[in-house]
Amino acid sequence: MERLKDAFSRALAAALPGQDIVLERPKAGEHGDLAFPCFRAAKALGGNPAELARRLAAELNVEGAALVAAGPYLNLRLAPLDRARVLLEAILQAEPARPYGSGEPHGEVVIVEYSSPNIAKLFTIGHLRSTMIGHALVQVHRFLGARVVRLNHLGDWGTQFGTLLAAYKRWAEAENPELSRDFPWAEEIPGARRSPLFRLFQLYVRFHAEEEKDPAMRDEARDWFRRLEAGDPEARRLWSWFREISLREFQRIYQRLGVAFDSLEMGEAFYEDQIAATLQRLEASGHLVEGENGARIVHLEDVGIQAPCLLQKADGTSIYATRDIAAGLYRQRTYAFDRCLYVVGGEQVLHFQQVFAVLEKLDPWFKGRLKHTPFGLIQLPEGKMSTRKGNVIFLEDVLDEAAQRVRAVIEEKNPELPDKERVAEMLGLGAVLFFNAINDRVKSITFTWERAVALDGDTGPYVQYAHARICSVLRKAGGDWAARARPSTEPCPESAGVDYLPVEAPQDLAGLEDPAAQELLFQLGGLPEAVRSAAREGMATALARQLLAVARAFSGFYTLCPVLAAENPAAVRESRLALCLATARALRQGLYLMGIQAPEEM
Ligand code: ARG
Repeated sequence: MERLKDAFSRALAAALPGQDIVLERPKAGEHGDLAFPCFRAAKALGGNPAELARRLAAELNVEGAALVAAGPYLNLRLAPLDRARVLLEAILQAEPARPYGSGEPHGEVVIVEYSSPNIAKLFTIGHLRSTMIGHALVQVHRFLGARVVRLNHLGDWGTQFGTLLAAYKRWAEAENPELSRDFPWAEEIPGARRSPLFRLFQLYVRFHAEEEKDPAMRDEARDWFRRLEAGDPEARRLWSWFREISLREFQRIYQRLGVAFDSLEMGEAFYEDQIAATLQRLEASGHLVEGENGARIVHLEDVGIQAPCLLQKADGTSIYATRDIAAGLYRQRTYAFDRCLYVVGGEQVLHFQQVFAVLEKLDPWFKGRLKHTPFGLIQLPEGKMSTRKGNVIFLEDVLDEAAQRVRAVIEEKNPELPDKERVAEMLGLGAVLFFNAINDRVKSITFTWERAVALDGDTGPYVQYAHARICSVLRKAGGDWAARARPSTEPCPESAGVDYLPVEAPQDLAGLEDPAAQELLFQLGGLPEAVRSAAREGMATALARQLLAVARAFSGFYTLCPVLAAENPAAVRESRLALCLATARALRQGLYLMGIQAPEEM
């Protein structure tokens, strides 16, 4: 397909010198495999788009394909058997390190900064979005040939640690110094679990509740943070203990999600000793000025941002933004990156505008390299989640619930299934992650249990089911078929894609002329573009939709075109099995990029 795309673009470029040639994918397979919308070129040439399409169709030639005008579009259409050949070869004969749809390594360095939870808080469903949008971006950029650096800007510094230290000293140290037993005052918070991190979380919530009644407690918290910043040994010791407790818990969750980072150590605290140098540099550049009440700020009106960026409080302490500036400079020195994507919620849009503007003032090198990839909140039907108030949904509860529901379905429909526990976990995760990806990135999502762990309809399990069903067909086909649907190496978070050993596409593809087979081929042909849209849009939504389209097309094909029971000649069965195999490989590959596993049986 890439070869045809090149040939088509070249022919168009020769016929339309000076015009931008942008190819699209037709909405439906009967229109063809590639489309050139003639609107812009016709306008530039002063003609009518439909006329231009007709003229180009008559004049141009692309070997192996027909060019057909359809209104204002010039479509490139493959003959059914050519389409089958092009796609089966592209998918089945791909070399292991270069799976179907992947890109040539291009050496660009892309930093993806994602997840970044605050320590001493539990992982909620809200953190899932940053974590999994970021994870998919990592996979997709790597798949397209970039060198990706995965960073977690852990929230391990800031005034909230004052709160935590104060709360611990007030209540926990005497009652429960190792944070491993229930506190006598433990509140009934749904999703409570018996982990030290949960104890910390409870301390945090309790402090905020009591502080409402006794505002003097605020000074206590502020004082503890001051001690922490000043390097007070007790404050430091407790802080690093709390950090360790949190990291242990986060690691467990990342493992469950199949997510990994190149470094978990570069959180906010990591930049503490670079703050002074950062402020000096800003000062030397003349941008850092005295604001109201002795705070120090950078004015940004000249770049269209009304609110100045506060970088140092009157008491000399740094803030969140200061650490982000230091982090930007550190990443520039360390990675010389081409792009840095910040996968952080939409409520921080202004923060990143300010941080980027300050960095660009310091060094124009940053221009165009920094990108905030915001996303909408996950809300509860009754409103916003708030860790302070304790009305949050914990991610683990959602994952557990999803797996449990799958488990119940398996018990009912396929109780003999081997490895039930593992399959239930894969499908449960598939449901939760797919739900997260299929929703528009920017809009907020209202979380309901019913929707988040749904197994029917436009869901991950529907796509996973198509894959498992194909594997079962291939098992029944005998020979090597089933083995060929298995990756040649087990993919792990470090691999760019799923690798398979190349398989020759059959010579005779006559079994794939049927419209249902053609529809499946057309949808498979859309996957490479869906991966590229995912990279462009900063979210796997397009990929998720295309995988659904493939799964649906498979179901149509399987209903209408007998595979195992195909009548003679044997070539029909062979070519249809090859299409099944290609579909299984493409589905597993696509799901993998989204962080979802594809069981072979369910
Ligand atoms: N820890 C922050 C939070 O939970 C997110 C950090 C985002 N990244 C950054 N570079 N500021 O809100």
